[in-house]
Amino acid sequence: MKISVIGCGYLGAVHAACMASLGHEVVGVDVDERKAAALSRGEAPFFEPGLPELLTEAMATGRLSFTTDMSAVEGADVHFVCVGTPQKAGEYAADMTYVDSAFTELRPYLREGNVVAGKSTVPVGTAERLAAELEGSGAVLVWNPEFLREGFAVEDTLHPDRLVYGVAASEAGQRSVEVLDEVYATPISEGTPRLVTDYATAQLVKVAANSFLATKISFINAMAELCEATGADVTQLADAIGHDVRIGRRFLNAGLGFGGGCLPKDIRAFMARAGELGVDQALTFLREVDAINLRRRARMLDLARAELGGSVANRKVAVLGAAFKPNSDDIRDSPALDVAIQLGKESARVTLFDPEAMPNAKAKAPELGYADSIEDAVDGAELVLLLTEWKQFVEMDPKAIGELVDGRRILDGRNVLVPSEWRDAGWTYRALGRQ
Ligand code: UDX
Repeated sequence: MKISVIGCGYLGAVHAACMASLGHEVVGVDVDERKAAALSRGEAPFFEPGLPELLTEAMATGRLSFTTDMSAVEGADVHFVCVGTPQKAGEYAADMTYVDSAFTELRPYLREGNVVAGKSTVPVGTAERLAAELEGSGAVLVWNPEFLREGFAVEDTLHPDRLVYGVAASEAGQRSVEVLDEVYATPISEGTPRLVTDYATAQLVKVAANSFLATKISFINAMAELCEATGADVTQLADAIGHDVRIGRRFLNAGLGFGGGCLPKDIRAFMARAGELGVDQALTFLREVDAINLRRRARMLDLARAELGGSVANRKVAVLGAAFKPNSDDIRDSPALDVAIQLGKESARVTLFDPEAMPNAKAKAPELGYADSIEDAVDGAELVLLLTEWKQFVEMDPKAIGELVDGRRILDGRNVLVPSEWRDAGWTYRALGRQ
């Protein structure tokens, strides 16, 4: 099929490359010239495992191209809208500017029988409004939320755990199901469950899923607060409750909490939308989920101050991690970078190292000190903070690192180190939610 992908960020670039690898002819459009140029050279404009290889492969087939010129979408059968919906400055609500302008710019190139597939995460009700705007264009709208995780984006797009189509209650809506089935013929043939819903349900599926995940993380982090007050161990608690298959162990890792371009802003936009719909009470609990999450960052700063005798001012603190999670260079709403910035504000001499997120971190927080390696970062440090669980941090040798620091104190913000190994090597080891 001929496909266009509008918006080539973490979602769209991966979607475009994956659709081409499934055999479709794809053009990706982005307003950012540098992004379109990098992608046209087969280079990923951000760190995502497997994406550079996939781009190179797909570009070689001649089925994938990128441009800033919207007219290139003309002739495509399906147009995927993958632009961002960031949090509005100073408000909980989502900023719909990019979605609205994508639809406005797309409109002149739509032809009879086209399908426009919305993938951006939007406030429920948006699809209904956009479908009305498309009337008379000959195209039909389908809402097709995306559930990919950064770091596993290629895998999640090629082998999704489910497909959701929110469709119009019309003949055209029925046809849009057939068209998307053709787009996703390969994952469907592999047995991927596919659910056809109305617009409202499809839009809610996405925010409900992210709210559930955020709630699960904040639940275990609330338990971590209880563990800190009682001397219990949150990792053992998570293991024990996780054996109950109704609960499950995944997404019960206590620590510095969730960040990134999705969970924080999605739960806030969901609360804002519930308010507009007059059902804000239904989501009041998400306010608590957000608050628990942010308290973990404050608690980490408390521990850092306590370890250094009450103040971090003028003390050398090594920060390991800036990305919101490993295998990503994304620093949007990153708990790790947030803690590093706060330490800097309290006049700590921060040296930060992250394997992939350094350029993004430097652009956002140029005031911090940066190191080229773990060894550089910890050299002479009086306190080490592990804030993103990159594999190389998890596998650090406490003895070797101990030779470099000026004080064997480590705070494990992700509960990924083996405490006894660090204590045996003479370190003071502390973590969130355990002794
Ligand atoms: C999330 C959803 O998982 C995905 O389905 C959706 O499409 C987009 O949002 P992503 O933002 O890539 O994906 O990250 P995810 O793996 O969900 O992690 C989110 C945050 O939660 C990270 O900061 C991570 O460190 C944190 N987290 C995750 C925990 O603190 N504990 C856990 O047990 C799991």
